[in-house]
Amino acid sequence: MKDGLDPRRIPAHVAIVMDGNGRWAQRRGLKRTDGHAAGEEALFDTVEGALDLGISWLTVYAFSTENWRRPLDEVRFLMRCNESLLLRRRDDLDQRGVRVRFIGRRGGRVPKRVVRHIEDTEALTARNRRMTLTFAFNYGGRAELTDGVREIARGVAAGRIDPERIDERTISRHMYAPDMPDPDLVVRTSGEYRISNYLLWESAYSEFVFTDVLWPDFRTRDLRAAIAEYQRRERRFGGVEGA
Ligand code: IPE
Ligand code: IPE
Ligand code: MG
Repeated sequence: MKDGLDPRRIPAHVAIVMDGNGRWAQRRGLKRTDGHAAGEEALFDTVEGALDLGISWLTVYAFSTENWRRPLDEVRFLMRCNESLLLRRRDDLDQRGVRVRFIGRRGGRVPKRVVRHIEDTEALTARNRRMTLTFAFNYGGRAELTDGVREIARGVAAGRIDPERIDERTISRHMYAPDMPDPDLVVRTSGEYRISNYLLWESAYSEFVFTDVLWPDFRTRDLRAAIAEYQRRERRFGGVEGA
């Protein structure tokens, strides 16, 4: 394979924090929202690269539960931007065998129309298996755990769940996408070294790669570079080498 990637050690699940849109725009004298618009090309180049590499699960952080704190104009733009991207790209994704899914809270301030487009896109692509592209949208790791705890508590109250038998698998089963494998690799762009409430439960043993590239500049080559770094790491999961 080009750039020395080992085809046998391609991560099954790559999760990305698409960060740096605002700074990308500001450096060009543009509005922050122009940066969000420019992020679309980065996303679809990355999807293309992930398909070529045979990555089965790609998860992208599109809107966090904390992003509601942004100015109303920017929040509105992000809602519209995600909606229009879905409408324009879903047939193409479907034809490429991509299953599109969403994790996050669907109620609250998310416009009903956006929720409807999300559900339609999920239904349209539900049978595809080449790759699952998951949008973390109105997503927060703490919100996910909170929602899971509530559901488990309901199960206990209804007698469906025995509190003594709650284990890690019980919790995994109550996350938003119980069938999604944990990410092998989490990539964050824009030179920030934090998780920002992304996949808290799921990334317990993920490898983290941080890059200074701002999201709108991110391309397949950057994905490949992140995977090359991942392949240089040694994953131990708490054990010892070679045991
Ligand atoms: C990431 O870019 C996009 C979202 C959070 C929706 P930012 O908008 O956070 O860009 P910076 O980090 O301010 O540069
Ligand atoms: C994380 O980026 C959320 C998304 C990429 C959607 P933020 O830009 O919101 O995170 P902070 O504020 O830098 O932690
Ligand atoms: Mg940011």
